[in-house]
Amino acid sequence: MPDPYSQITTVAPGILDVLIKAMELRAADPRSQAIRKVFLSLVDLPDAARVLEIGCGSGAITRELAHLPKVAEVVGLDPSPVFLAKARQLAAGIANLYFDEGDARSLPYADNEFDLAVFHTCLTHVPGPEKAVAEAFRVLRQGGHLAILDGDYSTTSVAVGDHDPLQACAEAAIAGLVNDRWLSRRLPGMVRSSGFHLQRLDSYGYLQADSPDYMLTLVDRGADILVNSSRIDSALADGLKKEARRRAESGEFFGFIAFTGLVARKPPL
Ligand SMILES: C[S@@+](CC[C@H](N)C(=O)[O-])C[C@H]1O[C@@H](n2cnc3c(N)ncnc32)[C@H](O)[C@@H]1O
Repeated sequence: MPDPYSQITTVAPGILDVLIKAMELRAADPRSQAIRKVFLSLVDLPDAARVLEIGCGSGAITRELAHLPKVAEVVGLDPSPVFLAKARQLAAGIANLYFDEGDARSLPYADNEFDLAVFHTCLTHVPGPEKAVAEAFRVLRQGGHLAILDGDYSTTSVAVGDHDPLQACAEAAIAGLVNDRWLSRRLPGMVRSSGFHLQRLDSYGYLQADSPDYMLTLVDRGADILVNSSRIDSALADGLKKEARRRAESGEFFGFIAFTGLVARKPPL
């Protein structure tokens, strides 16, 4: 099954609702917030900065960016009109925040418009990410920054031992929801080839054990993918989902994804 995010404009409304809930859930998780706090503190912004979030989804991260010190204006861009409608609704009342429809590989902006371009869990879903990075370079001012935070999804694990059947759900979820799970490993070379100077490359552990609400959505979506691809029947899928919840309730659940954070700079004149 192909990554739904990579062809988001063709996805059924019911699935878009599930994706919106998962994006908002993950963004609200204190552990993911803590990772972003450290990551974004590494970016040196000028006063009155103009910021672009590429692949903003329902705008959870765009809203955070709008409240960063020194930020004058934030624009969130996404190809999905449904995500953008939700993003506008959730951002009502935030004055310095706008949303545009568009594709990362062909940005609807002039050269040198932004001080910071952010890809937050976006590039792993975009076929042809090199083009998106090159577009970010084009729309950034000289000296502007690129900030990429994305899952190093090959590390995704919910196993607590060898041959743990829940791991099959995590594997199916990543295979079905992420266009390129290995992208993190190629990002440094990719941004350098586009002309950026690499400033930071870091790994952040995202661990959910108590209240693993986001990781449970991955188990559920993986189990559903296994049913839809006729690998298991729905009774087994229900059993796997129940087992994940049993572990969560008894304090035995362990879910982990490493995230890669990269900060790069378009060389000043
Ligand atoms: C996992 S979501 C992340 C959304 C948001 N950045 C967040 O972290 O909450 C991936 C986003 O990438 C967007 N996307 C997929 N293909 C894209 C493309 N070609 N250009 C721009 N965004 C794209 C999807 O529509 C989706 O909103």
